[in-house]
Amino acid sequence: MSLHVIKHPVADHILSLLRDERTGAAEFRNLSRQVTSLLVMEATRDLPSVPTEVKTPMETTRCRKLDRTVVVVAIVRAGMSMVETIVDLLPSVAVGFIGMERDEETAEAHSYYCKLPPLKDRRVLVVDPMLATGGSAAQVISMVYDQGATDVNFLNIVAAPEGVKVLQDKFPDLIIYTASLDRELNDKKYILPGLGDFGDRLYGT
Ligand code: PRP
Ligand code: URA
Repeated sequence: MSLHVIKHPVADHILSLLRDERTGAAEFRNLSRQVTSLLVMEATRDLPSVPTEVKTPMETTRCRKLDRTVVVVAIVRAGMSMVETIVDLLPSVAVGFIGMERDEETAEAHSYYCKLPPLKDRRVLVVDPMLATGGSAAQVISMVYDQGATDVNFLNIVAAPEGVKVLQDKFPDLIIYTASLDRELNDKKYILPGLGDFGDRLYGT
């Protein structure tokens, strides 16, 4: 498994605002779209493309077009905040949803919904802004591999070292892109320094 932490001053700036407890839901949603666009650019850097001819108003020129369907698998709820940005950026995208919820007492995740498009021979981007214990992401990534995916990336905004280790141990071929590798989990399994409960901040719950 490889871990890529985005090192970019714009990403750092967006994170400073996402972490700020004074940031309201509307701005929070906007910032999460902005940081997602930086993550998806990294995760698609090696996507195959094919040559094509395009007639500009000036002359005909050779260009390149993307040649691969990408599947986004959003871990509902918080992962939904990352879907629209990716769908808007890429020409051929299918979207799957897997609902996961952590028990508030034990922090153990259980799945309550799953709808996936075909995954074979496609780049699969599993998206969830928070990786804490790794329980939610590990279950979803297992489901995705079980459904035939072989090329899987996990796009995340804030990761805890504990969650990274879980994914690292379970999925040797997985590639993780995150905007921040934070310090640790607290005793309630929230990320420190983190940004609180992403879903609650996103949807004002
Ligand atoms: C959050 C987050 C991840 C999960 C991470 O979701 O969006 O899915 O916790 O924690 P883990 O790594 O310990 O599993 P939550 O369960 O709070 O549900 P929500 O998205 O509906 O708010
Ligand atoms: N889920 C969140 O939204 N935040 C955390 O810090 C941990 C899990």
